[in-house]
Amino acid sequence: MGTNSKAEEWDGFYTARNAFGKAYPELVEFLKQIDPKNSLLDLGAGQGRDTFVAHQLGFDVTAVDISKEGIRQIKEAGIKGVVEDLFHYQFDQQYQVVLLDAVIHCQPEDQEKEKQLFATIEKNLVEEGYLLLLTHQWDMREKYLQDLFEKYHPTLALQFNTYIEHIFIPPQSEEESIMELSFMCFQKLKNQ
Ligand SMILES: C[S@@+](CC[C@H](N)C(=O)[O-])C[C@H]1O[C@@H](n2cnc3c(N)ncnc32)[C@H](O)[C@@H]1O
Repeated sequence: MGTNSKAEEWDGFYTARNAFGKAYPELVEFLKQIDPKNSLLDLGAGQGRDTFVAHQLGFDVTAVDISKEGIRQIKEAGIKGVVEDLFHYQFDQQYQVVLLDAVIHCQPEDQEKEKQLFATIEKNLVEEGYLLLLTHQWDMREKYLQDLFEKYHPTLALQFNTYIEHIFIPPQSEEESIMELSFMCFQKLKNQ
């Protein structure tokens, strides 16, 4: 599926408010304890489920997504939003936190693009900054990512990997949906 048709599908999904429900409490608690709170880049921010929480907590947030509708809702709230393919996003500053929530999946064709993206993030995180990766628990995905970081991104050290069960009711549905995710936190090591 092309990026445009994918973006249009997401636009349709986001015509419903809070389409993915609330931000995960585990993520909110983690963001709360970061002190001081500086800059946060939400890549694949959707309609701002996490962006809004981070903004309310005091981070200076930039949200990036291919969905015009999602970014429209974020900008409407006065938060910086960019309609862009995250794999082509040009970093114009360093960030304290980079968040990828339910964006990185397991298609093998994504792996080369992902490696380049992680290298860009590694370069553009401040010392002791965080990369927060929330991924679906599929096909040994976590193991693949952990091995990848150990081998190619040694300055990003795994701090923890927590299991999250997210229950929400999707738009146009009455039934609960359960998403099983792993919440991986990598911290950029200090230059020795
Ligand atoms: C499952 S949603 C998660 C949205 C948000 N992170 C959240 O947790 O609520 C995936 C999002 O990734 C976005 N996305 C997928 N591929 C993308 C890409 N290449 N560049 C930018 N955004 C992308 C979609 O538009 C969609 O909003």
